[in-house]
Order: sequence, then structure tokens, then C-alpha cells
Amino acid sequence: MNKKMLASLLAAGLAIALVGCAQEQVPQVSEPVEQVTQAEVENKEEADATSGASEVDAATSASIVPAELVQVYSPKGFKDTDAKKALFVIGDPRKDSVHYDLARTAMQYFEENGVEVEVRDLYDMNFNPVLMPEEFYYAKDGNGEPTPEIKKEQELVSQADYIIFSYPNWHDTPNAIVKGYMEKVFAKKFAYQDTESGLQGMLTDKSIYTIMNAGFLGGGRGYIGDGIGIDDAAWDEYMQAFEVLDNDTAGFWGVENKGRFVNDRTPKNSSDNYEAEINELRDALKAKLKEVFFN
Ligand SMILES: Cc1cc2nc3c(=O)[nH]c(=O)nc-3n(C[C@H](O)[C@H](O)[C@H](O)COP(=O)(O)O)c2cc1C
Repeated sequence: MNKKMLASLLAAGLAIALVGCAQEQVPQVSEPVEQVTQAEVENKEEADATSGASEVDAATSASIVPAELVQVYSPKGFKDTDAKKALFVIGDPRKDSVHYDLARTAMQYFEENGVEVEVRDLYDMNFNPVLMPEEFYYAKDGNGEPTPEIKKEQELVSQADYIIFSYPNWHDTPNAIVKGYMEKVFAKKFAYQDTESGLQGMLTDKSIYTIMNAGFLGGGRGYIGDGIGIDDAAWDEYMQAFEVLDNDTAGFWGVENKGRFVNDRTPKNSSDNYEAEINELRDALKAKLKEVFFN
């Protein structure tokens, strides 16, 4: 045996020994082999296509409106008229969520009722919600100038009669992208100012309203008093807490708080009755908007 052959044999022996050791240390568990049918593969691909979920994550607890029921609606924007104007500030990474469906329902309903609608889709805009050090003193004190990006948003806010914040409930506050919009756009000397008697809101001809989809707030739909018998005490407690925070924000900016539409009764993705249920939800939102804005 020459040296080369000896080295090969030693290497092979070492490899076999190592595999043997590894097998001894890791107990072998026999996994049941999953049989995936062609129909399941197709269903999963369809779900991924609608939701944007990754291939490995089609099963989700998130709401997904079936593709054939997704509403596509683009509002026409503000014009130079005397019509009332609603600025929609939307924070949602998904266009087929039930939350986005509510936002589109509301935008369409406003336009059908003669209100001009301008939408700021913060994810589409790639809006950076983080208040950076160089922007801090503008937001805090109104020192210096807003960035061109923020100035544009302030011009839209200035034109608006209604500012509608719309987002899914992620830990009970505006989600980060919407919260960042509030922090950056509603800066001092734009939204409020110092006076001898303290801070004074400057946006006194406007109101705010919030549209929010949720998952764990007591099962109601609407606002304070609109529990549906699942856990009405919890529902009202949440709605009252939101009212406290919204009133505080509104007070800071000098705007009226017109309240919220919150949904905590989302149709199950697998519901056989999905279309009727999503239509019932859309109608509930429209009824609330009618009561709040058009009576
Ligand atoms: C990061 C994260 C945090 C959440 N936190 C809450 C919460 O605090 N309270 C709640 O009611 N739902 C919470 N949810 C559930 C969502 O509000 C719920 O899934 C809702 O359906 C979101 O609307 P959408 O499905 O239309 O996006 C959370 C969801 C996510 C992704």
C-alpha cells in the first residue's frame, strides 16, 4: 500500500467514526411523513399570492380578504374647490387585509358623499417614521424648517377638514409608521404653539377620526357602547382608554376628536359566509361615518 492509499483509508475510517458518534449523540426520532395533496399546494400558492405571505408561511392568523372580494379604490385627491376635504393617513403593510378594506370603504363613502379624499399610504411612500436627531428640534420647538417631505404633508394637513388615521391595532397605539407621521408632521409652531397661558392648538378648523381593525378588544364593533355581548365591559374600557388618548392628542393640536370606528369582529378567513360578513362590516362602518360626518 502506498502512502496515498493509506491516507485515503485513514480519512474514510475517520469519517465513518465521526458519523457513528453523531448518531449516538443525537437520538433518531422517526418523523411522520406528511402527505401534501396537489389541491393543498394550489390553495397555498393562491393564499400566498393574495396575502404576500412567504411560501413557507401561508397559514396565518392575519385577516386576508379573498382576492375576488378585495376592493380596489383610488380616491381622486384634493381639488381647488370649497368641498370638504378628508386626508387619509394609512399605515398597513398589506392591501388585502380587512383593515385596508375598511380604509377603502371609508374613502369611497366620503367621495360618494361629496367629500374630497387624499390618501397618504405611508408604506407605499416608504415613510420613515423615526424622528432623527437632526429633526428633533424642529418637531420639539419648531426651530428651523421642516424637510421638504414633511412640508408636503403639512400642506395637505392644512387643506384638510378631516384627518383620518387608519391602521391595524398593534399593541393598542397607532402603529409605528402612523405614530411617526404624527410626531414629525404635527410639529410645534405648525400644530401648536406657546402662549402666555400655556400651549395652544393651532389646527382649530379640523377634526381627527380613527379607523382601526383589532383582534382582542372584547369583540365589539363601532365605538363606546357598541359591544355585542362578548365582553362589553372590556370593550368599553378599551374604547374609553382610546378616547382619553385621542382627546389629549386633539387638545394638543386644537382639533376636534370625532372618535373612532374599531372592529373586533373580523370574518374568519375560512368562513363560508365571507362575502355577507365583510359586507355587514362595510355597512357598519358606513353607518357610523354617516352618523359622525353626514348627519
Ligand atoms: C404586532 C401585532 C400586535 C398586535 N397587538 C394587538 C393588540 O394589542 N390588541 C389587539 O386587539 N390586537 C392586536 N393584534 C392583532 C391585530 O389587531 C389583528 O390581527 C387585526 O386583525 C389586525 O387587522 P388586519 O387583520 O386587518 O391587519 C396585533 C397584531 C400584530 C401583528
